[in-house]
Amino acid sequence: MKSHLIIFLIVSVVVVVLMNIGIFISVPEDRGIAVDAETLRKEALRRGLSPVPAQWNEAKKAVGNPDPEMITLGERLFFDPVLSKDRTINCATCHIIEDGGDDNRPTAIGYHGQANPFHLNSPTVLNAALAKRQFWDGRSPDVEDQAKGPIQAPFEMAMTPPEVVERLKADPSYVETFARVFPEEGITFDTATRAIGAYERTLLTRGAYDRFVEGDDDAIGEDAKAGLTLFMNLGCKGCHSGMSFGGQSLQTFPLRPYHTPIVPHSVYANGKRYFKEFSLGSVSYDSPFPFPDIGGFHGKNGMHRFRVPILRNVTRTGPYFHNGSVDKIEEAVRIMARHQLGVDLNQKQIDRIVAFLKTLEGGPVGYEIR
Ligand code: HEC
Ligand code: HEC
Repeated sequence: MKSHLIIFLIVSVVVVVLMNIGIFISVPEDRGIAVDAETLRKEALRRGLSPVPAQWNEAKKAVGNPDPEMITLGERLFFDPVLSKDRTINCATCHIIEDGGDDNRPTAIGYHGQANPFHLNSPTVLNAALAKRQFWDGRSPDVEDQAKGPIQAPFEMAMTPPEVVERLKADPSYVETFARVFPEEGITFDTATRAIGAYERTLLTRGAYDRFVEGDDDAIGEDAKAGLTLFMNLGCKGCHSGMSFGGQSLQTFPLRPYHTPIVPHSVYANGKRYFKEFSLGSVSYDSPFPFPDIGGFHGKNGMHRFRVPILRNVTRTGPYFHNGSVDKIEEAVRIMARHQLGVDLNQKQIDRIVAFLKTLEGGPVGYEIR
């Protein structure tokens, strides 16, 4: 009897130790080897990873069909620093349209050089109209509503709605345009932000990926094809879904903070859970994330739920994650696989996924709407 107990104890200890060394399931080498192009394309389309349409007639089904003059007005407002307190900052200060739609800074810098108080990273505005929710915690429903935020944020453009109206009314050309586009309402904070939203709805981008799924086998390379296969097979696509490759839901991050679900190494301090990784080369973080908790932003209601980021142009929008503390896309992919899917990828697999993500690069289509 006693010897059975000893054997049981020894086996348990060995299992626990092994789980802490072996820890993550690694993905078989061949899991990312692409099938033929036609099968891959069909799979991607079947899973809803649709191309961004090249023609506005199709695209408007996804983003609505704003009035062409409203779009032109919104574009002017997007680039006009008159919407900021000291007339130096416009939306494009933090959302550079020609360079991925963000600012490539760890955190946004706004009015009087102030950083975002939560050290939040500027997401891309490109394809943002395709998202079901806006902001890192998804607190805004659409781009029109979203545009009200930065204009009023004291650390971004630092204005009040009456100041916005007053400034725009002081410019005869705005008075004239608003009267034409919004004959009933004229210049209001609401009409200004609606116009900005109308412009943002046109900021859809296409890349080599879109040409591939539309039928051009050679639009993307073999590594990218293998990367797309991995992206679908591993389950990245479960969260980074749809035409925008993200933006459709809020999800918990990190889903798997620990090495093993059986022996979680959580540490509690000051009522907060700190995340501690334990392995032979023991690493620990004073953070609930697998990177420093700069800014202390913990997603919706502090529950570590984040709006899934859009991956179109992601290779151009570093640094990564809500507080911009990860510089390299390769590292972001490694973290995602490990902490969202519980798999350790090797360097080749990571490189293939990155090669695929690169095929999502592309500037605004430039639809002929106006
Ligand atoms: C000082 C830099 C800064 C300025 C100026 C700025 N933004 Fe942003 N933008 C940010 C940051 C940071 C976030 C994320 C904030 C958050 O989630 O709380 C953001 C989020 C967004 C989003 C949400 C994207 C998504 O995928 O969730 C959109 C759309 C957007 N901004 C558009 C605009 C528009 C339009 C303007 C001008 C009216 C503007 N921004 C001005 C920094 C800026
Ligand atoms: C369970 C949902 C989920 C899965 C599965 C998932 N992600 Fe994510 N991903 C997220 C969330 C949520 C974030 C934002 C986390 C944050 O910033 O705090 C994110 C962030 C990212 C980022 C950084 C984006 C940016 O702009 O900062 C990249 C890159 C990324 N994911 C790629 C992938 C890849 C590749 C896979 C598959 C290996 C994957 N994700 C699987 C939910 C998921």
